[in-house]
Amino acid sequence: SEWQDRGAAKIVTTTTDENGITRTTVVKKSIKDFVMGKTLGEGSYSTVVLAKDKSTKKKYAMKILDKRYIVNEKKVKYVNIEKHTLNRLSKHVGIIHLFYTFQDEQSLYFVLDYASNGELYTLIKKYGSMDLDSVKYYSAQILDAIRYIHDNGVIHRDIKPENILVNEQMKIQITDFGTAKLLEKNENGEYPTNVRATSFVGTAEYVSPELLNEKYVGKACDIWAFGCLIYQMISGKPAFKATNDYLVFQKICKLNYAFTAGFPTIVRDLVKRIFVLKPSNRITIPEIQKHMFFESIEWSDPDAIWGTDPPELG
Ligand code: ADE
Repeated sequence: SEWQDRGAAKIVTTTTDENGITRTTVVKKSIKDFVMGKTLGEGSYSTVVLAKDKSTKKKYAMKILDKRYIVNEKKVKYVNIEKHTLNRLSKHVGIIHLFYTFQDEQSLYFVLDYASNGELYTLIKKYGSMDLDSVKYYSAQILDAIRYIHDNGVIHRDIKPENILVNEQMKIQITDFGTAKLLEKNENGEYPTNVRATSFVGTAEYVSPELLNEKYVGKACDIWAFGCLIYQMISGKPAFKATNDYLVFQKICKLNYAFTAGFPTIVRDLVKRIFVLKPSNRITIPEIQKHMFFESIEWSDPDAIWGTDPPELG
């Protein structure tokens, strides 16, 4: 049927009886295995609720998608992209983990990591702006997660503070792969640099100029959005902001932004190298890693990025 469901969500138990006969029982998780809690978020075609596994008591974020709505709104493709990319990427600490998928008559269910500290967006709002140590701590994790996404042939295309979650340990976890682009390897076994874009445009404030002008998309668009994130963590507001999307797009295409008072010089330099119109001239991930701002980060050691205590926010 339209809703194929293979792998991932099965719990396998193996028992051997007194006659030495081994039986393997495959039990698919279902909605009955969870107690539902508060609503964590609402998207255009999904709701995320807190869910607790009745037997293990472990908390999850359960994304519930309405089948009828998805079919009517022609979103089947995006739901499948989300599931496939999560299956491909969710081994990394910086990506929200997909534990189980299942379905009933009405809905599809994605059982995900519960990030108890919510969206980075909320942290930025709460503190107005972040101190330099915190910006470095969160942005190093975000960059490492984006690097992993790209290394595995995926472009996220909607990196923004609402899609960066913060877990119990104050580590970031990137979510919402519903609009991701999966790259196909070419004849040399490599992922292409650019692919033609479909009609998809992310969120106005974080959209790259090449998507607006050339209608093609590459990994550089996630770097652009990363620049927008850094800017916003420092300033407390988006770099490109206006009363409507059209005016935002105009500002982006004209590089019409200004640094707020007290914006640290070292971060200004990095942001200027990211906010470059031509994607081929934009700074790349290895170059960002070598930038002065990240001088203290040992990128080859995941523990140096993910194993350190979060700075006190304030
Ligand atoms: N909101 C949306 N997804 C979430 C998640 N996985 N954890 C916490 N809050 C969320």
